[in-house]
Amino acid sequence: MKKISIIGAGNVGSTTAFYIAEKNFSDVMLIDIAEGRAKGKALDLMEAAPVRNYDAKIDGSDNIEDIAGSDVVVITAGHVRKPEMSRLDLLEVNAKVIEPIIQKIKQYTPNAIIINITEPVDALTYYIWKKGGFESKKIIGMTGVLDTTRLREFISKELQVSTADTTALVIGGHHDYMAILPRYARVEGIPITQLLPKEKINKIIKHTREAGTEILSYLKTATAHYAPAAAIAEMVEAIIKDTRSILCVSACLQGEYGIKNLCLGVPAIIGANGVEKVIELQLTIEERQQFEESETVIRNAVEVLEV
Ligand code: LAC
Repeated sequence: MKKISIIGAGNVGSTTAFYIAEKNFSDVMLIDIAEGRAKGKALDLMEAAPVRNYDAKIDGSDNIEDIAGSDVVVITAGHVRKPEMSRLDLLEVNAKVIEPIIQKIKQYTPNAIIINITEPVDALTYYIWKKGGFESKKIIGMTGVLDTTRLREFISKELQVSTADTTALVIGGHHDYMAILPRYARVEGIPITQLLPKEKINKIIKHTREAGTEILSYLKTATAHYAPAAAIAEMVEAIIKDTRSILCVSACLQGEYGIKNLCLGVPAIIGANGVEKVIELQLTIEERQQFEESETVIRNAVEVLEV
């Protein structure tokens, strides 16, 4: 069995462990700094195995050295937003939380592929990349897989069609400037621009952009975690099974889209080596503008980070 370590056994981390276990492709090591928390969650998850039919082993630890030998490390540690906060408000406080984690990954499992979820995702994915000196393809932020699953759900609800028939691409940053591309949102290959009037499409786009904030406004003390965890499990599966699926992720760009030294949401082939290839879309002027707005926001944000 392969080994996935998940750092942070909060809502996102433990739900991710559950989804991965149910897919039966990897053992999971849950890590949390809070004594007993990861162990307790892991025991609880394992006690569900006989009825949920998984053979994967889930273990928990408060010792980060237990990430040794991981194929993939998922970073979910850090503070979550409170209502009225933007994701970027968490930049400095969460950079401090993950700085020691980066060092431990380098020390104990330097060859693992790293998936970052800690907010603000794009900026902190960049921070991990630069601070850790990792190869660009081995560090990936979870962004567009979440935004596209939300978009697909809203399209399917509006059109009363199966979610399985929908596909979509969301690029740019995982924040208020995400670039949602209706041209690439399709139902069984048909662009939604042929199926829905412009105002309905705009409503769906707005809903997608605000979905994380909407959930936070209901939960108040927690952010969304089921859809984010499902998105992480999808990315982990692509890596472990080397499926080479095209997924929208925050990739560390090295000249693609004319951008260097920044991590930003783009479609990419995800496989055993992490980001196998960034797919460069031919964007219209308007789409490019949206993408560049994201680039500017993230570039300004990372300037305060010491890397
Ligand atoms: C959200 C958080 C994960 O979008 O940013 O729900």
